[in-house]
Amino acid sequence: MDELSRRRMLAAGGTLGALGALSVATPAQASALWTWSPKGSVAGAGKGADPKGVWDDEADQIVADVIDSGHTADVNKELRKWTKNGQDLSRALPSELRNFMETARQMPSWTDRGKLETAVDFNEKRGLYLGVTYGFASGMMSTVIPREARAVYYSKGGADMRDRITKTAKLGYDIGTSNAYKDDGEMVVTCVKTRLAHAGVRHILPKSPHWAKVADEAIPISQADMMVTWHSLPTTVMQNLVKWKVPIPADESDAFLHSWQLCAHMLGIKDEYIPNSWAEANSQAAQVLTPILAPTPEGVKLADMLLNLATIVPGGPLKYITKPILGALTRYVLGDEIANWLKIPREPFWDFVFETAWEPFIQVREGLLSLEDAPGVLQKVYWAFDELLRLAALLVLSGADLPISIEIPDTNNPN
Ligand code: HEM
Repeated sequence: MDELSRRRMLAAGGTLGALGALSVATPAQASALWTWSPKGSVAGAGKGADPKGVWDDEADQIVADVIDSGHTADVNKELRKWTKNGQDLSRALPSELRNFMETARQMPSWTDRGKLETAVDFNEKRGLYLGVTYGFASGMMSTVIPREARAVYYSKGGADMRDRITKTAKLGYDIGTSNAYKDDGEMVVTCVKTRLAHAGVRHILPKSPHWAKVADEAIPISQADMMVTWHSLPTTVMQNLVKWKVPIPADESDAFLHSWQLCAHMLGIKDEYIPNSWAEANSQAAQVLTPILAPTPEGVKLADMLLNLATIVPGGPLKYITKPILGALTRYVLGDEIANWLKIPREPFWDFVFETAWEPFIQVREGLLSLEDAPGVLQKVYWAFDELLRLAALLVLSGADLPISIEIPDTNNPN
């Protein structure tokens, strides 16, 4: 099977990659006092307001009006025509929405095109590792972010996880493309549409009796929630690459951060909450992400769906990557506590293999260790690890080339 057919099958059959971006979570969480200073943000200053009480005023009312006026389907039809960053917006969009989108699509003054060029190099060199970390660090982590898990489970997309994951994979794919933020790229489109989708969720999810029963906030997807999910993506990815000792030059690491800072801005996260360095990102993540991770019944079900979806790869050598291997990978990446929350069974062989051989595997791939000097078990499982990297990269790639349009939801998950 050629790569393109595989990609299409993956996309049709369900995709785990980039999952993190959109995913799942809810906290049983007591929220910590907000003490992170806006001095560490890309804005360098700000009111310092607790982001738990801030949403997206500019987008939320406009999208609520679209939904309440019964025009969601018409608007989504027009949104589908907008596929490239630099393209004109449809004149048939309601003028208020159109004006908002014109503003929202502008790149911030702090955009650094040089850094974005360097990010392209990084994505090309590290694409294989990014697939695994987006899918099995970020994606699986999203299932233990209680608010995200609940929002995802009870929103429209929760009724069709394959579709949802494919849409999410689009963001993970787009941000890694060489023209992501250029006029002929698609990342700005994806972010602005996602911003509209989130505004729609804020308006209609509170009407879901299922969500209302379990939610610990009146309106979902606050700026704090957004930062939590954001950290489950670039911050968690970079923490894993560092842990695995992947050699990354400082300018590339910085460039990768920059591409995600821009993503945050384009998703409507205020500049005063976006960390200006990895040190600030790690300190903010320790405050907002780590303490709120917790199991929920919704997250446990989502994690199981994700592990199953990731194994639906018809034909080809990828069929050897089984649910136990993916479960063991998740346990290795996220640790015993989270794996146990998610009711992922222990896999004595594969758990041992990941603990013993994953880091040496990276070292061998990077030319820093010879296979002969690596632990003996690596020689037996090298092919499986290699397959795993390819599978995860394909999952992210499945966000490409498809007529995917992220839409404003007008219903919740009926179940
Ligand atoms: C939709 C990404 C934060 C809940 C989406 C979509 C993307 C995305 C790409 C479109 C996919 C689709 O329509 O199925 C992101 C990113 C985030 C983020 C990159 C942060 C950096 C959050 C948070 C929550 C959340 C914090 C909840 C607490 C949802 C929901 C949908 C959605 C419920 C719509 C599902 C539907 O009804 O179809 N997000 N998201 N997201 N996101 Fe997010």
